[in-house]
Amino acid sequence: MKKILVTGGTGYIGSHTVVELLKNPDYSIDIIDNLSNSKEHVVDLIAEIAGKKPNFIKGDLLDFELLKSLFEKNDYDIIIHFAGLKAVGESVEKPLEYYENNIQSTINLLRLVRTDKPTDFIFSSSATVYGEQDSPKCVETMQTGTKLTNPYGRTKYFIEEILKDYANTNPNFCATILRYFNPVGAHPSGLLGEDPNGIPNNLMPVVMRTYTGEIPALNIFGDDYDTPDGTARRDYIHVVDLARGHIASLEHSKPGISIYNLGTGLPTSVKEIIAAFEEASGKKLNTNIAPRRSGDLPECWADPSKANAELGWHTELTIADAIRDTLNYLNKQ
Ligand code: NAD
Ligand code: UD1
Repeated sequence: MKKILVTGGTGYIGSHTVVELLKNPDYSIDIIDNLSNSKEHVVDLIAEIAGKKPNFIKGDLLDFELLKSLFEKNDYDIIIHFAGLKAVGESVEKPLEYYENNIQSTINLLRLVRTDKPTDFIFSSSATVYGEQDSPKCVETMQTGTKLTNPYGRTKYFIEEILKDYANTNPNFCATILRYFNPVGAHPSGLLGEDPNGIPNNLMPVVMRTYTGEIPALNIFGDDYDTPDGTARRDYIHVVDLARGHIASLEHSKPGISIYNLGTGLPTSVKEIIAAFEEASGKKLNTNIAPRRSGDLPECWADPSKANAELGWHTELTIADAIRDTLNYLNKQ
């Protein structure tokens, strides 16, 4: 049996990953989450899909004493660290909260990792660490950390650097940094999906709320970019493919730091996402052309060839699959 701690496991990506992890009978899973952006009921939904219930601890990673007692009771072989605050705009308003929550949480976990036996550690990083590059196609070897536009992005960059420094001190530390591109979609069961608290910022949740009428119209941030249809292009990856990327990473874990992009390698524009959603739902969405959003890049997508070659991982699902699963999730709410 391998003992796994999943931080942020009731959140969007964490919950989908726990479902995939539970397919392995040799994994015993503890989730820790402070429920600041998720609900405890997600644990029951995971159990309904997986046929097995993970152990849930309601707790904050900033509470070092709580974490210490958890590590004293459990000898974790694997730590998958999703927990973090992720709203870019909010991070500009509350930088200290973001630096403390995201960075101190990670330091607290690292202080408890054993040095006398191997520990696999997976960290949820982001394409945001690439900042602005000469080419929109991001490769792991590119220099990171320059021209980052917000504290959220900087927390991801700083944590990557902290992990590299820590790895130099612990030869048994097997860390994988996964740089996610734009996760979208929901579990095909319709039970799990993205359900952000408050006003959403990311495109797909805004599309969803425009569809349900909670948002009167979707603002397309800029249609004058130098792209085929003038709107910005991103790499949208189905959350189930992303979750599977974590399983593949665990199967190839090795001492030191390994870094992988998890994306499809295909750019899709804002207008293409809207058109695909309208086609699948049969409903026209209200849209406005709005000014460019500050800090946005015209284009950014993954070169996923390293993950393809080394992890044997490939995306299997399309944007049409993600939209179908999103609509199914919405209909079940
Ligand atoms: P999410 O908000 O749905 O999940 C994060 C979970 O962490 C939430 O359930 C929240 O309650 C919990 N949490 C936050 N701070 C905590 C703390 N101090 N102690 C305990 N629990 C805490 O977000 P997500 O979309 O599932 O993202 C997971 C990770 O992936 C995050 O680190 C995020 O920055 C990163 N990421 C997300 C995206 C994206 O677009 N969703 C893209 C790139 C990277
Ligand atoms: C954003 C974050 C990034 C984070 C990523 C995933 C910024 C500057 N970057 O990236 O740090 O890692 O989310 O969480 O916020 N769009 C609209 N109208 C909307 C919403 C979005 O036109 O109402 C457009 C955006 O301008 C962008 C695209 O849709 O071109 C995708 O936006 P979003 O989902 O916010 O992701 P990113 O900008 O890629």
